[in-house]
Amino acid sequence: METQIIRMDEQHIDREQLAKAGEIIKAGGLVAFPTETVYGLGGDALNPESSKKIYAAKGRPSDNPLIIHIAKFQDLNLIVKEIPDLARKLAEAFWPGPLTMIFKKSDMVPYETTGGLETVAVRMPVHPVAMAFIEAAGGYVAAPSANRSGRPSPTLAKYVEEDMQGRIEMIIDGGGVKIGLESTIVDMTVEKPMILRPGFITKEMLEKVLQSVSEDQTMMSTDSGQVPKAPGMKYRHYAPKGDLTIVDGNEEQVIEYINREVSFLQEKGHKVGIIGTEATIARYCGDVCKSAGNRKDDNTIAKELYRILREFDDEDVTVIFSESFNTVGIGQAIMNRLLKAAGHKIIHL
Ligand code: TXA
Ligand code: MG
Repeated sequence: METQIIRMDEQHIDREQLAKAGEIIKAGGLVAFPTETVYGLGGDALNPESSKKIYAAKGRPSDNPLIIHIAKFQDLNLIVKEIPDLARKLAEAFWPGPLTMIFKKSDMVPYETTGGLETVAVRMPVHPVAMAFIEAAGGYVAAPSANRSGRPSPTLAKYVEEDMQGRIEMIIDGGGVKIGLESTIVDMTVEKPMILRPGFITKEMLEKVLQSVSEDQTMMSTDSGQVPKAPGMKYRHYAPKGDLTIVDGNEEQVIEYINREVSFLQEKGHKVGIIGTEATIARYCGDVCKSAGNRKDDNTIAKELYRILREFDDEDVTVIFSESFNTVGIGQAIMNRLLKAAGHKIIHL
């Protein structure tokens, strides 16, 4: 299959091109598209064959459910059994935007899309190209992140191309994404809404609307003895080829520790990558040193993290050290993804 790539920036929505993309979805094909979080790999959410194709293109286990993307709030009615009042409130506050909510599914939603579950994840993205595309596709687009399973989610169309070339009909290239980490997932089917995956919409932001929100205990640690409630969170996603360790401590200690390890590992023939920040990166003696951004604005780090992990794979580093980040605000999502990438290997100095 030849993958067609079309360019479209959010200021210049090309309805004719999007109509073509919409036709591909309606005919059961797959189209990757930009959202504000990461690129999505879209198929018709109400067509079981499309969902099967998504799993095949990603190489993803089929017990890992997909998120249905909608463009209008009223479209929610068709795919869920009921809309809890608290979900209405969250939608008012955060939709369209980087928030996914879990509902009880209606009979319209095939089990192929929900990985066999009675619940369904729904999100209304705010990216103008995503919204126009979803409408052109008939209103219900199932879309996981557009990476091959086990690779970091794509933040640029070229990464979608790397992973999906020849496997899907079309890629809509909308340039770089704004946020860089996947949406916050909140389960609305339980009495007290529960965060299953941290993202740009933080616990503090949700609490302003909901009074009280709980968190899946498996989000930040492995020793809760529980299985994550979002099936996808149990997989070791985002694992770079190099062996990644996070080093936590005060700045001077961390730099000193990492540089000592680097000399030792280089002598043994390793190629070492470092993830630092603007303020520290020049002080590392690794083979490939990359700044994730500025600690004064964690959003810069969220946006660059997946790009950096992909670049390390291309540069064939065998070992990677990363600085640790604080878990306030979007920092929680950053550390959640970084800990997964590291298989929870973290050294506290
Ligand atoms: O930002 C995002 O959410 C991106 C963009 C493309 O919208 N999508 C995304 O999809 O990250 P994906 O498939 O890579 O991650 C979906 C996560 C998985 O961990 C999955 O297990 C969980 O959502 N999920 C989906 N449906 C669920 C359900 N019914 N109950 C619990 N977790 C669910
Ligand atoms: Mg994903």
